[in-house]
Order: sequence, then structure tokens, then C-alpha cells
Amino acid sequence: MSKNDWDNIAKIAEDLVRKAAQQIKLSLKNELIVEYKSNPNDLVTEMDRKIEAYFFEEITKQFPQHFILGEEGTGKDLHSLDGTVWIIDPIDGTTNFVHQQRHFAISVGIYEDGVGKVGIIYDVMGDELYLAIEHQGAYVNGVQLPVLGEAKVSDSLIAVNSGWIVKDERLTKLVRNCRGTRAYGAAAIEMASVAANRIDGYISLNLSPWDFAAGAILVKEVGGIVSTIDGSDLDLLHNCTICVAKKGLYQELQDEYLNNKKG
Ligand code: 2AM
Ligand code: CA
Repeated sequence: MSKNDWDNIAKIAEDLVRKAAQQIKLSLKNELIVEYKSNPNDLVTEMDRKIEAYFFEEITKQFPQHFILGEEGTGKDLHSLDGTVWIIDPIDGTTNFVHQQRHFAISVGIYEDGVGKVGIIYDVMGDELYLAIEHQGAYVNGVQLPVLGEAKVSDSLIAVNSGWIVKDERLTKLVRNCRGTRAYGAAAIEMASVAANRIDGYISLNLSPWDFAAGAILVKEVGGIVSTIDGSDLDLLHNCTICVAKKGLYQELQDEYLNNKKG
């Protein structure tokens, strides 16, 4: 597909994201119906399902040949990244949505044969729409994000969930040595925050493709590095650990903290 085709798909995707956000905002006026998924801390609302269904309906109408993978079950039998695949989280940060009614995002990553082409993350209540198109840079609300500089652990803010810190002692050492930690509770917002130079890195032990598909495209477009904690490429069909950081910091994280062969 040509640059024009991708520009066009990005426009359509942005329009869908904005319309979905409008539906989510309206839903906040009513009482939410919350259910549990795998356990009492794994929440889902009728809006997660409704918004995913909205994307499914619109995308299949406009692009019947495209594939869709979504958190709430769409494409659960998808075993290949061949062709054009939309990877969607209708609400990333559902716990924030339920408890705080803010700090949640819609995340849409569009891949062609496994290569990231368009990434959109919309922080709905913060009204910040991040958009990246491969080789065209990343934007927030239409303003281009500068290419990221380098950083080192001692002067970095790193996003990491406290649940992971107590589970993995490599992270305990990192927390002691970095300038500070943050936890926003929505992987897409955390990755967008690295792209926007608000934090320097983000580490998470168990994320699903819809949590990181769009964020990975955004971060790469501003020169950041995204991999698993072991330094391997992300797998867009399975859960992954995640290490996202500016240059310099990424290497230090890998060499001195996450995969330090010296122990
Ligand atoms: P969600 O809100 O879409 O479920 C919270 O630290 C981040 O981790 C959120 O982006 C959340 O996405 C994601 N998350 C929560 N539980 C998860 C799980 N069991 N597997 C993968 N990602 C999860
Ligand atoms: Ca979700």
C-alpha cells in the first residue's frame, strides 16, 4: 500500500477513535455495569465490549479484507500477522475507567505483514490524541513530538507497576537507583508518555498485544527502543514482558539491570 493509502487509513482510524471516545464519555453519565473476568481485579464493563463491537462493525464495513484482534474476544483465533491487522484495546486502563473515570485510553495499532504502520492512542479524558504513521513521525493533537534524546538510570523517571516491583528483584534494584518511578495504570498511556518525553522508560511484566501494539509504533517513530525485557522483538500475537526506553537508558537497563549476567 502507498503512503497515501496509509494516510487515508490513519484518518479513518482517527475518526473512529474520536467517535468511540464520544460514546465512552456519554456513558460516564450513567451507572457502569462492571463484571469480573479471570479474577476480581480483572474488570470489564459493558463499554469495553460495546466499543470493541463498534470498531469491529465499522472496520469490517470499510475494510472487509482487514483482520482485527481485540481485547474483548475479536480475532481470538487469529494465528498470523499476514495482511493488514488492526490490534485494538477499546479501553486500556479499565480499572482507572471504573475507579477514576479518567486516565484510560483507546489504543489502535495497524500492522501490515507484522510491520507497524499506524499507531493511535487517545487519552479520552485528557483529550490527548497521539498519532504515528510509519516514517512520518509522531504527533500529539497535531503537534509533532521531537526525537527523543538519551538518558541514564540515575536521572530517569521510569514507569513500573508496584505489583511487578515486589515480584521481580531486578526491578527493586532499578527502583533504588533511578530518579523516581511512576505508575499510570494504562500501558498505552505509559508508552505514549515515553514518546512524549514525560517519562524516560517503562517496564511491565505481562502485557497483551492490544496493550502495546499502538505504543510500540509511537515510541519507534521518535527514536525510542521497544522490546521484551530479554531484548527480543515483541510478539504481537501473544503476551509479552515489555521494556521501553530512550537510547542509552535502554542499553543500561538491559546490561546492568534486566539481563545482568554478573548478577
Ligand atoms: P487493560 O486495562 O486494558 O486490562 C495496568 O497496569 C495495565 O496492564 C493496563 O494497560 C491493563 O490493560 C494491563 N493489564 C491488566 N491486566 C492484565 C493482564 N492480565 N494481562 C495483560 N495486561 C493486563
Ligand atoms: Ca482493555
